[in-house]
Amino acid sequence: MNLQKNIGSQAVLNNGLNMPMLGLGVWQMREGAETENAVRWALDAGYRLIDSAKLYRNERSVGRAVRSSGIRREEIFVTTKLWPTDFGRVERAFEGSLQRLDLGYIDLYLIHFPVAFIPGFASIRRRVWSTLEKLYARRLVRAIGVSNYDQSNIDETMSAATIPPAVNQIRLNPFVYDRKLIQFCQSRGIAVEAYSPLTRARRLNHPVITRIAANHGRSPAQVLIRWALQHGAIVIPIDIASKIPEAAELCGRRETPILEIARSPDFTLEKLKDALKRSAEIH
Ligand SMILES: NC(=O)c1ccc[n+]([C@@H]2O[C@H](COP(=O)([O-])OP(=O)(O)OC[C@H]3O[C@@H](n4cnc5c(N)ncnc54)[C@H](OP(=O)(O)O)[C@@H]3O)[C@@H](O)[C@H]2O)c1
Repeated sequence: MNLQKNIGSQAVLNNGLNMPMLGLGVWQMREGAETENAVRWALDAGYRLIDSAKLYRNERSVGRAVRSSGIRREEIFVTTKLWPTDFGRVERAFEGSLQRLDLGYIDLYLIHFPVAFIPGFASIRRRVWSTLEKLYARRLVRAIGVSNYDQSNIDETMSAATIPPAVNQIRLNPFVYDRKLIQFCQSRGIAVEAYSPLTRARRLNHPVITRIAANHGRSPAQVLIRWALQHGAIVIPIDIASKIPEAAELCGRRETPILEIARSPDFTLEKLKDALKRSAEIH
């Protein structure tokens, strides 16, 4: 595994498109100055991936911040998502996101949630996927993917698809992750994207995490981002304004890979996982 990463590191998706490996998630940020400033500061810090969704109600602000950034559109990768209440009007929902973002095209459009608990939804999910394929064919979106899909949802999609999902965005941090699903996605060429990589700040004080952080002169958040990157995942923490430079620094602001912590013997994934398992706090 190539452990050297900088903030410009890119994953190559199964359609050949490059996608930055570290991005900013904007869930729960209010439309307006809050989102615009966060996106602007993130872009200034070197982030080039912004993860939004129709559900977050801040696509307009994301688009405004990207357009006013002075950075060329093609250098910035913008994700948004289709919420299940729009499964019956996919094209209209997509057009709405496209208009609110006002960036000409969307880089990655994800089915936000499979609604797998409703029986009979499989045919609806397949129809939705087929519409996403048409949007892709029209070049309105550069890659299409899914989120919160398990192996059976992916199998079901692939059984009828002409274009396989490029990405599966799932919850992934040392406390919550599905190793089999990660391996399955990666074996099918589907990039894994980690949401809630910072445990929504709930486990940043876990003794194993704080010990590793202290040993390496890093913050707990940096350790968790690094952990997800070492799983080969694309990572999208919510990174509040004051903390954006910290995550950016983790990945090296420019070309210099600074992640020497990864070379230290007690920072391997297996060691971290074992330590977490032994800990009384993990269940
Ligand atoms: N596809 C999906 O269904 C789905 C679901 C959830 C999230 N997501 C995406 O994933 C993104 C991130 O996931 P998440 O929102 O669940 O949360 P997360 O990234 O795991 O945690 C975010 C929280 O971590 C804290 N934090 C951020 N940077 C920090 C730093 N450098 N040091 C210490 N604490 C830091 C902040 O908490 P405090 O404010 O308390 O400090 C922040 O609110 C979302 O924005 C969204 O784009 C997708």
